[in-house]
Amino acid sequence: MTTRARSFDAAAALYAAHRPGYPPALFDAVEALAGRPLAGARVADVGAGTGIATGLLRERGAEVLAVEPGDGMAAEFRRTHPGIPIVRGDGDRLPLATGAFDLLTYAQAWHWTDPARSVPEARRVLRPGGALAMWWNDTDVTVPWIAEQEERLRVFFEVKGESRRTLPEGLGEFTTRSVTWSRRITLDDHLANLASHSAFLVLGEARTRAYFAGERELLNPLFPDGIVEEQYVVNVSVAVV
Ligand SMILES: C[S@@+](CC[C@H](N)C(=O)[O-])C[C@H]1O[C@@H](n2cnc3c(N)ncnc32)[C@H](O)[C@@H]1O
Repeated sequence: MTTRARSFDAAAALYAAHRPGYPPALFDAVEALAGRPLAGARVADVGAGTGIATGLLRERGAEVLAVEPGDGMAAEFRRTHPGIPIVRGDGDRLPLATGAFDLLTYAQAWHWTDPARSVPEARRVLRPGGALAMWWNDTDVTVPWIAEQEERLRVFFEVKGESRRTLPEGLGEFTTRSVTWSRRITLDDHLANLASHSAFLVLGEARTRAYFAGERELLNPLFPDGIVEEQYVVNVSVAVV
């Protein structure tokens, strides 16, 4: 695993406290695209992290098992979800039995895998007719202040070109749906959420602190009551294998 893929471990509590969840409509879309209800489904949630998606899958009635490579994230998962089983491992080498799962989910985690390995592994552990679902909570850049914030991030991290996500080959056709949703949180929580992203986790404290001082100064006048509405588009892609 790369330094950036491991970066979440030192910030697991920050991550668990501030990262957004996922709306019910996302799970409705997963059920529609996978062609089966989550209730009673045998699901492996890979790259489970602190369990944000895993807990919601369990609430929908799935028999869910978490898979997580990172020490810090797995420890936070065990602390906050003591009733859900978790095994250590990653998407490139799943510690799971062949043909044992109806659904594999990757909530903001597929991009950390090596598709040359994670695609055959997904095929191996899914039963015939099982499904792979992957999703990301993207910020809604149709909202002007969010588009401006994203542009500042691109400039700061010198991101070149479009960040287009490529869906893996070798799993058949993916179908993609987008679900918009929002949450209202304090400006402090909004900034803490931003700071829990891997790009900042590997940046170092001084540069991160300087960036957030500037960001706070820009956002304060936009949100005089200190409440921010974060708007998201969850892009979910599902392939039935
Ligand atoms: C952005 S977090 C997502 C956590 C959680 N699924 C959620 O929705 O909040 C990405 C997670 O992927 C894990 N990860 C890193 N490399 C991985 C790999 N090769 N396979 C699976 N998970 C990986 C990280 O340890 C981290 O917990």
